[in-house]
Amino acid sequence: MSSHYNSNITSYKINSGNVAFAAPSNIALVKYWGKRPVQIPENASLSFTLSACRTETSVKYDRKLTKDAKINFSFLFEGSPKPSFEPKIKTFLERVAPYFSFLKDFNFIINSKNTFPHSSGIASSASGMSALARCFVAIEQELGGDLSKAMQIEKASFLARLGSGSACRSLEGPVTVWGEHSSILNSSDEFAVKFSKPIHSIFTNYQDTVLLIDKGEKQVSSTVGHGLMHGHPFASQRFVQANQNLEKLTKVLETGDINEFIAIVESEALTLHAMMMSSQPYFILMKPNTLEVINEIWSFRKQTKIPVCFTLDAGANVHVLYPEEFKRQVLAFIKEKLAARCQNKQYICDYVGNGTIKL
Ligand code: PMV
Repeated sequence: MSSHYNSNITSYKINSGNVAFAAPSNIALVKYWGKRPVQIPENASLSFTLSACRTETSVKYDRKLTKDAKINFSFLFEGSPKPSFEPKIKTFLERVAPYFSFLKDFNFIINSKNTFPHSSGIASSASGMSALARCFVAIEQELGGDLSKAMQIEKASFLARLGSGSACRSLEGPVTVWGEHSSILNSSDEFAVKFSKPIHSIFTNYQDTVLLIDKGEKQVSSTVGHGLMHGHPFASQRFVQANQNLEKLTKVLETGDINEFIAIVESEALTLHAMMMSSQPYFILMKPNTLEVINEIWSFRKQTKIPVCFTLDAGANVHVLYPEEFKRQVLAFIKEKLAARCQNKQYICDYVGNGTIKL
């Protein structure tokens, strides 16, 4: 347990207050798939932090009149009670309790909303958990905590990881790395760090148009998927490969070599799904339209020489990645050719961003 995250507040500066943060989603370019307890990744991963797909969370806190040993909270989603989300938040608060001595002394009202369409098939755990973690770190500061700004971000990333692994990469941007890696300074398995080397200008405003191929419940959750990497015949090679890809990608981010970027990113996406397809039991999260879209993207790239590529997360949706200068042509292509492959022709235009924002 990382005890340096404990702020030992002896007396509270205030008895009640309200904090609010917005946190974005992120999309991994080098994928995290496989973990050890508790949420320790088997390989380092690297992601673009996004902007448009985000969760806005406020937490109101009030000192308990009589002290008890319970963590007391109520949860509202878009202003209304949402009992189905409560167990996840309860687990999160129980996990982070050792790092917040104040947690049992206050009542909390948590209010959350997402800027992306409800049940769009977009996972809200990264944005949701990072917003929540950032709020609780801010409360601790208001009550008398003494962490530096950098340590507040690090602690929030550490705690968000306990809620949902990849959430730890949403605190900062435009690029973050989670997992110990020899070529990333100060990298850690316990929290994500901002990619600190200079990034080529082509990547600082990269576009990510998320095609909503399938909005249904996934047949296999990512928790189960990660679990199936234990004893997977290709697991150890995969973890080595991911770390090698991360090394290559760090160079590409500096040089702006877009062809190499595409080669690494698409290979990572397909390897992630190849791991799922070769697990025991095996499973497929892609849908026929996922493959149709991938083929359309490849034809468009070949014909136009526009450097557009795709990545996938643990689902059927396709993230279309491209430099901002080609936005007009790529959006026209998406509208004309790919929208028809999406459920209700829905897609979300997102782009690279800088992490959590105080509201
Ligand atoms: O954070 P989790 O446990 O939902 O796992 C996310 C895994 C991927 O999205 C498939 C890859 C990643 O690195 O984000």
